[in-house]
Amino acid sequence: MKIGITGAGGQLGQALVRYTMERVSPASVVAVTRHPDKLEEFSRQGVEVRAGDFNLPTGLLTAFQGIERLVIIPTGDLQPGVRRIQHTAAIHAAAASGVRHVMYISTVGARPDPNNELLDSHFATDQALINSGVAWTILRMSIYMETLLDPAKRAVSSGSYAAVPGAPAAYVVRNDIAAAAAGILTTPGHEGITYHATGPVSISQQEIAGAIGKTAGKPVAFTEITAAQQRAGLEAAGLPPFLIGIFAGFQEALRAGMFDLVTADVARLSGKPAQSPSAFFARTLGSTASTARG
Ligand SMILES: NC(=O)c1ccc[n+]([C@@H]2O[C@H](COP(=O)([O-])OP(=O)(O)OC[C@H]3O[C@@H](n4cnc5c(N)ncnc54)[C@H](OP(=O)(O)O)[C@@H]3O)[C@@H](O)[C@H]2O)c1
Repeated sequence: MKIGITGAGGQLGQALVRYTMERVSPASVVAVTRHPDKLEEFSRQGVEVRAGDFNLPTGLLTAFQGIERLVIIPTGDLQPGVRRIQHTAAIHAAAASGVRHVMYISTVGARPDPNNELLDSHFATDQALINSGVAWTILRMSIYMETLLDPAKRAVSSGSYAAVPGAPAAYVVRNDIAAAAAGILTTPGHEGITYHATGPVSISQQEIAGAIGKTAGKPVAFTEITAAQQRAGLEAAGLPPFLIGIFAGFQEALRAGMFDLVTADVARLSGKPAQSPSAFFARTLGSTASTARG
């Protein structure tokens, strides 16, 4: 059986190719990417690397030939209305190419929301896949734990973790999402199921400050900022206005509890427990923390 992975050149895509190769022969993996030249290492390992761009649907018909099970990794294109067109084109191409089973990596909390392109486009893709006539699986991912890394490094240096307080969230490490997705791609029985790849605990911003301090071995204070201050920070960083709106809407949904969902799906699908925030900080802050301790 040929297993296809779109977006194979991205960080999640590359991790998914690696986890899939741990479970099946590289010869049965097809990595689809806009930039095949970047994946020569996978080619050397026996993976078939093909060119594929969701903006060029005709080429996808060739890219998906002979693939039985395909995962669609979402693009990061958040220009209004674009992503759902890209994803729907990929779903239609998969169906037209004879792909039997398609998995989409969506988000926890996907919902119709005309004011939030990020959530709305994931929801639209979920629905397009369910209605495509192809066997489907949806893996809804929580927010990446990696989004905490830069703020955590700053917190170790300054002794203060600044965030807008709100509901807790079950941050998940990217590799755990990839490992769960590889489990779905390489074992039977996942058709018609929506899974949720989450971390093992839901953690508040105050608890994040505490976990960073514990890893650093020094006090890290929680400094409350407002949503307006957070937005001003994005403006100062020079983000385009449409992205600031999307990011602010995403943060608002986070504070309202969108990612306050813990499941055992990562462990169930990957065969190993999802990484906790404290394990993540211990793994990633090691050198920053020891420098800060002097
Ligand atoms: N849950 C979260 O907190 C979170 C955070 C960040 C991002 N995300 C989402 O998860 C996705 C994967 O994340 P990542 O960490 O791997 O980000 P990344 O490294 O920036 O990867 C971007 C991905 O988008 C694909 N892509 C972009 N334009 C495309 C097009 N026209 N046709 C087909 N594929 C296209 C890329 O594929 P190729 O380069 O191989 O063509 C690549 O897989 C992101 O695109 C975003 O939707 C989620």
